Amino acid sequence: MKILNFTGRAAMDEAAADYVANLLEEKPAAVIALPTGETPLGLYRQLATRQSEGTVNLHAARFFNLDEFEGKGIADPGSYAGFLMANAFGPMGVAPDKLRLLQGDAPDAEAECRAFDAAIAAAGGLDLAILGLGRNGHVAFNEPGDDWSLETHRVRLTESTRAAQGGLYADPGDVPDHGLTMGVATVFKARKLLLLVSGQGKDDALQALLCGKPDPNRSVTALVGHPDLTVLRDVSSVGAGNQGLATRGSATI
Ligand code: GLP
Repeated sequence: MKILNFTGRAAMDEAAADYVANLLEEKPAAVIALPTGETPLGLYRQLATRQSEGTVNLHAARFFNLDEFEGKGIADPGSYAGFLMANAFGPMGVAPDKLRLLQGDAPDAEAECRAFDAAIAAAGGLDLAILGLGRNGHVAFNEPGDDWSLETHRVRLTESTRAAQGGLYADPGDVPDHGLTMGVATVFKARKLLLLVSGQGKDDALQALLCGKPDPNRSVTALVGHPDLTVLRDVSSVGAGNQGLATRGSATI
C-alpha cells in the first residue's frame, strides 16, 4: 500500500488527476470504475479541464460506476448514475457507448448485477477502481458484515449510510433502503486501486485500513494486501494517525 498525504483538497485532486492521466498514457483504452460522492468531485473537474485543454485523452477509456440506489434510474435526480452524468461523464465528454452504469431501476436486480459483472469481464476486467471512503469504513456500498466473496450484488443500506446522502436527498426518509454495488471481490480484482480519503469523520475508517488487519465491519480493510493500492489522503480533513504526521492547519482529528 502506498499512502500519499496532501494538505488540502486541491493538491490531492491534482495528484489523483495525474494518476489517471498516467494510466491513460500507458493504456488509452483503460477500463475504470468511478465512485459517487463529494470526495471525487475535484478529480472530475480536473479531468474535464485537462480533457478540454487536450492534456488528457479520455475518449478511448471505458467507465463503470461502483454503486447505485435500488429503484433509481439514470434520469432520476436521486440516482448515482445521474450524479455521475452531471458531474463526471458529461463534463468529461465521455460517449454513451463507453459507459456501463448500474441500472438501479432494472426490474430484476439480481439479473442486472450478473449482467454488470459480465460487462466488466467482457471489457477485460477493471484496470483501475477509484474509490471513496464511507464514514463507517465502507467502499462502494459494501456495508458492515457484507460478504466479501460477492461480486456485484444487492445490499441493505445502513442508517448511517442513508443519513449521509443529504446531498442527493433533501428528505432522509426518501433515501432508498437498498442499493446495488460492486462487491469486494469485484473491486479487489481491479488491477489498480486508488482510494481517495477526504472529509470529516473518516479517521477511524482510515486507521482501520492502516492497521492492516481485515475487519469484517469495514470493507475498506478488505483492500489490505491488494498488490497495487494507492491511498491519497487529505490531511486537512482526515487525521494523520499512525503515519506520524502532526495535525495541520485547522484539521479536526
Ligand atoms: C457513499 C458511496 C460511496 C462513497 C461514500 C463516500 O456511501 N456509496 O461509494 O465513496 O459515500 O462519499 P463522500 O465522498 O461524499 O464522503
